[in-house]
Amino acid sequence: MKCLLRMMVVLLLLPVLSNAVARQQLQILPTPTADRTFQFVHTSTSFLGTPLAVEAVVPYALVVIGADESPEVSAQAATMAYMIGQWSQEPGTSLEMIKTNQNLGPLVFDKNLTQAEIENRNLVVVGKRNTLYQKLEGRLKGKGSFIEVIKDGLVPARDIMFVSDEKAAFYLANKRLYFKSGAYKGFFSFAKTRLLIEKDNFAAALYALDDPEAVRGCGKPVILAIGHKENIPPEMMKVAGERNKLVFKDLRAALKAGDRTKAIEVWQAAMGTCYGCHQSRQGIKQYRKFKPNKGEHAYHGVIAQQFGANCDTCHYGSTAMVGYD
Ligand code: HEC
Ligand code: HEC
Repeated sequence: MKCLLRMMVVLLLLPVLSNAVARQQLQILPTPTADRTFQFVHTSTSFLGTPLAVEAVVPYALVVIGADESPEVSAQAATMAYMIGQWSQEPGTSLEMIKTNQNLGPLVFDKNLTQAEIENRNLVVVGKRNTLYQKLEGRLKGKGSFIEVIKDGLVPARDIMFVSDEKAAFYLANKRLYFKSGAYKGFFSFAKTRLLIEKDNFAAALYALDDPEAVRGCGKPVILAIGHKENIPPEMMKVAGERNKLVFKDLRAALKAGDRTKAIEVWQAAMGTCYGCHQSRQGIKQYRKFKPNKGEHAYHGVIAQQFGANCDTCHYGSTAMVGYD
């Protein structure tokens, strides 16, 4: 139960944390949620050209640094690559890439960046000691520590995120990307849990509640929460607490009892809290201030299809579908 609470706290915290960061003058440009809506990963076919070909969440952003970058900034760039890896299901390999010995990690030196990568990927340029910064400098408005997204950076339809220094890089790697990886793992597992209940697979659904890689995935950014709990609006804590009770207490009890109807009812009530905070429903304020990207979010529909479910299985009543489409 302690863990659930912590997990809750985390989700809630993010807006608060970003305010705290703002006070320390880390600017996010051109809008305060530009770091949330940047496309870092997307859904794509991996293992292309082999019988293993599968739709997966893979890295879309490539982290770029210069070879002369400071060790501090370089270490944070490596942490970003690691967090993007945590979030992804697969590096996005293909037979061709493996045969031609290509770099699979989402981190590259400016001098090794290929034209194909510039045309096919978003770039996260970290630090100023690299050739891309020189090209972009005139278009950047940020001062001091900042993260700035430039739409159509070097080519149309491919964006560049510029991360100015160690402090901005630390925030992006350890707070923003860490949260994303946990939130999405938790979300996909939460959806899968419902689909398992529909199949009467209560043992697997129950396991998903305790598996560190599943529903509790969103407990990972716990670290973010420590020390900031007092800044969270009490109404938001209340919704969070309610969600934790539904997911970890009531749902667990229904699954243990093998009560399918009750399990679905409780799961659906928990989904009502997601819609509450994200889109403002049932008298709950909208705490999430942006629309998620379809590129990664829609993967939960791929999971649903694998179980033979459709969108209406979960989207009805107060959780009728509204979003990116
Ligand atoms: C108490 C409020 C609250 C509840 C309940 C809640 N969330 Fe959230 N969620 C948020 C906030 C706030 C954010 C945005 C954090 C930020 O600013 O990055 C968020 C972000 C997310 C994200 C990341 C979106 C993105 O693209 O960055 C996912 C995934 C997510 N929530 C899943 C869920 C799921 C699934 C549930 C229900 C089981 C849920 N959340 C319940 C408040 C909540
Ligand atoms: C197994 C249950 C389940 C199924 C099936 C399902 N969804 Fe969802 N969906 C969810 C949950 C839970 C959320 C809330 C999490 C969030 O808002 O991030 C959600 C949120 C959404 C959102 C809101 C995004 C936003 O702006 O917050 C959209 C759009 C969406 N789903 C589309 C679809 C589509 C399209 C399908 C069918 C291909 C589908 N869903 C099938 C569970 C499901």
